Parts: sequence; structure tokens; C-alpha cells
Amino acid sequence: MMAGLVIGCLAVQLSLVSLLLCAFASTTQHTLGGGSSLSVEDRARPFLVSPDGTFSCGFLQVGENAFAFSIWFTASQNSTAVWTANRDFPVNGRGSRVSFTRDGELALADVNGTTVWSSSKMGGVSGGRRGLTVSLKDTGNLVITDPWTSTTVWQSFDWPTDTLLPSQPFTRGMKLVAGYYSLIFDNDNVLRLLYYGPDVASLYWPVPSLTIYQAGRTNYNSSMIAVLNNIGVFLSSDQLQAQATDLGVGIKRRLTIEHDGNFRMYSLNESTGGWTQTWSALVQPCQAHGLCGRNSICKYQPSLQCSCLPGHEMTDREDWTKGCSPLFSVGNCSQGAAPPPPEQSKFVKVPKTDFYGFDVGYSESVTFEQCRYLCLENCPCAAFTYRLDGGGKCYQKGRLFNGYTSPKYRVSIYLKVPPYFNVSAPLIAAASAAGLTCSNNSQRHRQDLEPTNTYVYGKAPRNSGKWAYLFAFAGVLGVLDLLFIATGWWFLSSKQSIPSAMEAGYRNLMTSQFRRFTYRELKDATGNFKEELGRGGSGVVYRGVLEGERVVAVKRLAVDFTVQGDEEFWAEMTVLGRINHINLVRIWGFCSERKHKMLAP
Ligand SMILES: *[C@@H]1O[C@H](CO)[C@@H](O)[C@H](O)[C@H]1NC(C)=O
Ligand SMILES: *[C@@H]1O[C@H](CO)[C@@H](O)[C@H](O)[C@H]1NC(C)=O
Ligand SMILES: *[C@@H]1O[C@H](CO)[C@@H](O)[C@H](O)[C@H]1NC(C)=O
Ligand SMILES: *[C@@H]1O[C@H](CO)[C@@H](O)[C@H](O)[C@H]1NC(C)=O
Ligand SMILES: *[C@@H]1O[C@H](CO)[C@@H](O)[C@H](O)[C@H]1NC(C)=O
Ligand SMILES: *[C@@H]1O[C@H](CO)[C@@H](O)[C@H](O)[C@H]1NC(C)=O
Ligand SMILES: *[C@@H]1O[C@H](CO)[C@@H](O)[C@H](O)[C@H]1NC(C)=O
Repeated sequence: MMAGLVIGCLAVQLSLVSLLLCAFASTTQHTLGGGSSLSVEDRARPFLVSPDGTFSCGFLQVGENAFAFSIWFTASQNSTAVWTANRDFPVNGRGSRVSFTRDGELALADVNGTTVWSSSKMGGVSGGRRGLTVSLKDTGNLVITDPWTSTTVWQSFDWPTDTLLPSQPFTRGMKLVAGYYSLIFDNDNVLRLLYYGPDVASLYWPVPSLTIYQAGRTNYNSSMIAVLNNIGVFLSSDQLQAQATDLGVGIKRRLTIEHDGNFRMYSLNESTGGWTQTWSALVQPCQAHGLCGRNSICKYQPSLQCSCLPGHEMTDREDWTKGCSPLFSVGNCSQGAAPPPPEQSKFVKVPKTDFYGFDVGYSESVTFEQCRYLCLENCPCAAFTYRLDGGGKCYQKGRLFNGYTSPKYRVSIYLKVPPYFNVSAPLIAAASAAGLTCSNNSQRHRQDLEPTNTYVYGKAPRNSGKWAYLFAFAGVLGVLDLLFIATGWWFLSSKQSIPSAMEAGYRNLMTSQFRRFTYRELKDATGNFKEELGRGGSGVVYRGVLEGERVVAVKRLAVDFTVQGDEEFWAEMTVLGRINHINLVRIWGFCSERKHKMLAP
């Protein structure tokens, strides 16, 4: 009768303890086990926070009722995203949910249940691996780990969006993207900025007018790796060495490619949450290609401005990247149309301006008149530039992209127009268009979604209210737990002192073959930690024999892992205890004595 009561109590105890542990797990928000989720309605709360609090991850608003799952600097004013799972596919502000499944997959589901993003689709190991954990590191890396082997199954650092963080390697095949712009390692081992527009593509950094060596780079080293270090130097294997103006440790930085095509380094001002630019790839913003589209000119004075060439007007009044269209008819050269007789064409000079690329002819040692004549005779030549250096260089331009003007520029472009064309009148149109700025491009990535009243849940939502309820419940159980333990001890007249509620819970788990070992027991079992089976970030795994027959692996947690405190250890035990509970991995027990923390799986 008494024994029955005790066993009954123990059974109740077990379920109470696991509930209590679940509640505890939710407080350690830098590591989560399978079955955790956050719905977009609870976005005020982050999904995870890094142990030192620098980074948070969760839902960020990217438009009207549109949300992304992102990582950001906790202290930044507007939660500047440094990584985003679903940048191009925002989810609805109602009914969407991010989950870390029991199969070890981090997934983002939209209101209708569609998975818009998942870690396994993004290069991760296919699902079906149990017992994984997801954590946000102090570096800003979101990592899915196999705690047994301490291997990384998936990490956000491998899938950058537009930002690099200190210590995050940027390697061959990776891409930072903002609109039509990207940072890549090119086939020649050089780190470059690329414009890949709807019509044309071109590399614009390092500045194409310089050779690789003139730009201070090399294409000799094929390791193709670039990293921003902790003092603010961005070093690349092509010998790029970019230094922040505020060099030094302890400053929170990021390197971001932006919608104007520039690649900049920023430092966080932690008191204001604002960002200060400390380096940029392009000194002149107009060096980025494609900002103003075809037949238009980029000017920096002191902000970016686009304007149309004389005789042209904006193709799309709201989008400078669409460029400008001529107000005169242009012959179709591919139809074999004869060029107009030279005396019937004329040129309009646009001073201190040049266009990059699309040369249809190049000649050296020619006079200005010869160059002019060459362009007239050549149907596809739309304009030419002439340089006096080197005995006279003549560049004939076919299509006019990447126009750029600067008062410091010595080159002028000569635009071919029909003889009947009056340039004075259209110049007025061009001037009026010049007031618009290019920076509007940056607004184009904003995405809005219609609000919805449809709630489609795969599973019942777990909201903060329920968690509060669970906490209260767990608290009451905790008190009952302590009472039970106290009574138990009193009955059994144990010599031992009463351990904390947490440890007591695990003691009771012994009945499910999950027990606490002493350091001595494990030391003996492993023959003084003789036979090493494997080694990982959080510890070394040894072979051991328990009770003379059961072969076990003993994981001895690394010292720097254990010094993070008991809370960390108990959090891991919680996860493991739950794994054990569902009988996927058999954990025989654990050991916790001062600095010695071990698991015996
Ligand atoms: C869910 O919504 C998205 C976006 O509105 C849509 O593309 C997708 O087809 C929908 N899926 C289902 C199963 O209805
Ligand atoms: C190539 O670059 C890597 C990374 O910067 C560096 O460690 C290595 O020494 C370089 N190799 C050569 C041959 O310069
Ligand atoms: C942060 O911003 C404040 C207010 O603008 C300024 O006084 C302070 O010097 C800044 N701190 C750093 C480290 O730039
Ligand atoms: C944050 O957003 C507000 C309002 O949109 C804006 O005025 C402010 O400049 C932003 N701050 C930063 C640091 O981007
Ligand atoms: C020029 O003529 C070619 C061949 O007939 C045709 O394919 C092309 O679309 C024409 N181009 C323009 C701009 O009209
Ligand atoms: C060109 O246009 C301007 C302004 O509309 C006008 O004053 C001028 O007379 C025109 N010139 C010719 C040759 O048509
Ligand atoms: C930016 O574009 C929007 C439409 O996309 C337009 O209404 C607005 O006037 C533009 N703003 C500027 C400063 O050009």
C-alpha cells in the first residue's frame, strides 16, 4: 500500500518534473530544442537572443502587414536586419509562424500553411534528425547543432543576405545581394561588385578603368575568402584591406551592400542605436552602375541625382533605373539601314560626362575630326568620347549605360542626333527631370501584404498567454514537488541535504533509467578517461563501461562550456531529458560535481 503510493507519487512526479523543465527551457532563449515555435502575433518577443544579448532573432516588419524572419542587433534603433530568411517572400502579419521542428528543421510558414522558407531547403542536411538544437550565437550566427557530436548541421553564416558580420567568412560561391547589386568572388579570384540589371550586367568595383594591380588587388590567390575581423579590418584573399575609420575592439560592426550599389561598413552607436559609416567600397556613389538607367547621367551633388541626356525623357516617371528614351527616331542598324550622310547628322556635346561600357569601336592616334567622322559613318555609334592623351583616343559608344558626370571630369561625350532635331527645347525637359533623386530605388524592396482574417494553423498556437499559464502551473507543481521531496526525505531520514528542485527532478528521473552518476563512477567507467571517441566544440566523448557490461559514451563538457554556469548545463539536460523521454536516444544519466559536467549517453 505504502509502496504503491510511493510509486504512484513518483509517476506523478515524473510528469510534473518534465512540465517544470519545459517551462525552464523557455526561459533560456539562446538555445531551443525541437518543437519550439513563435507566431507572428507574438513578435514583440524574440525567438532567440544571443547569450550576451547582442543579437536577437524573430519577426521584423518589412511592409504593411508583411513580416520577415530576421536576425538583428538588439541595440540598433530600427532593428537593422543582418540576416533574413525570407527576404523576397514576406509572410502575413497574422497566422504566420516560425518553428523548430522535432526533425531539426527551422521553418517559416505563411498564414495558409505554405512553408515559405526552411533550413533544410537552404542547403541543410535533409530533415529527420532528432535531438537537434537551434541557438543564436554571440557572433550573430543562427546555428542548428547536433549536441551529441557538436557538429553544425546548418548555420545562417553560410547563407548571407546583404550583410557580413565580424568573423563571418565570405567565400567562393557566396553572394551579398541588394536589388540588382551583388558582392561576389569573380572567376579570377577577385572580390567584386556586380550590377546585374534587367538589360545589362557589368562589374563596377574595383573601378574598371584600373587594372587589378592598380586597384591594389591580386588574382593570384585562389583561396577566395574575405573576413571582417574584430578590430574593423576587412581582409580578402585578393589583398583587399579595408579599414574602418574607428579601428579598435569592442565596436559592433557590419558590412552591408545597399540598394545604391555601394558596399559599406558601419559601426553601431550603442547609446543612440544609430549607425555610423566607417568605410565604403565606392568613394563616388555614381561609380555604381545602373543607378540611372540607359541614356541618363548620374550626378553627385551632394546627393545622388539622375538626369536625362539632351533630347531624351524619362521612360518611367517613377523609376530612374528604366532610364530615358530619345525624343527623336533612331534608325534600326540591324536592318542594314544606311547611315545618314555625314552632313545630315550632328552632335550635341555633353560636357564632363562619360558612359561606361558598350564600346562599338576604339581607335588610337586619331584627330577629333576623324573620331567624329568614324562615329557618323558607323550606324550603331550613338555617341563618342575623345581623349587627347596617347596621341588621341577615340571611343565609339553603342548603347549609353552607366553615365556619370562630375565637375572634376575632363572628358566630354558627343551625342549623335538627327540634323532636324532642335536640342534646345528638349533640354528644358531634361532639366526638370534632374530634380528627382535616384535614392528612391531603395524603397522598391518594400513589400506590402493585404491583412487577412483567415487563420490557418497547422497546430494549435502556443502564445505567451499559454506560457504564462504553464509557468504558473509549473510554479504550483514546483511547490508541490518541494513538499513531496521534503516529506520523502523526512520519511526516508536521508543523510543527504535537499537538492534544488531542478536536481531533485532529475534524481526522480532515475526511475526511468536516467540517473545521476558521481564523477568517480564515470572516471572508473572510462578508465580515467582513457579512450577518446570524438571531440567537439562543447566537449570530448569517451568510451566507458557501466556496471561491468553496458558500453556507453561519456561526454565530458569542455571547461569553457561549463563555466557558463549551471543554468546552461541544466538547460542542456532539459533538452536531453526530453529526448530521452521520447526514447530516441538512450541517455543513461549525467554527472554534475563542481566543474565536472558529464553526460552518459
Ligand atoms: C499561400 O499563399 C501564398 C501567397 O499568397 C501563395 O503563393 C500560395 O500558393 C498559397 N498556398 C496555398 C496552399 O494556398
Ligand atoms: C591566400 O589568402 C589566404 C587568406 O587571406 C592567406 O591565408 C594565404 O596565405 C594566401 N596565400 C598566398 C599564397 O598568398
Ligand atoms: C553616439 O551618439 C551620441 C549622440 O549623437 C554622440 O554624442 C556619441 O559620441 C556617439 N558615440 C560614438 C561612440 O560615436
Ligand atoms: C529609424 O526610423 C525612423 C522613422 O522611420 C527614422 O526617422 C530614423 O532615422 C531611423 N533610424 C535609423 C538609425 O535608421
Ligand atoms: C531592328 O530590326 C531587327 C531585324 O528586323 C529586329 O529584330 C529588331 O527588333 C529591330 N530593332 C528595333 C529597335 O526596332
Ligand atoms: C529650338 O527651340 C527653341 C526653344 O523652343 C527655339 O527658341 C528655337 O527657335 C528653336 N530653333 C530652331 C532652329 O528651330
Ligand atoms: C518615390 O517613388 C514614389 C512612387 O514609387 C513616388 O510617389 C515618390 O514621389 C518618389 N519620391 C521621390 C523623392 O522621388
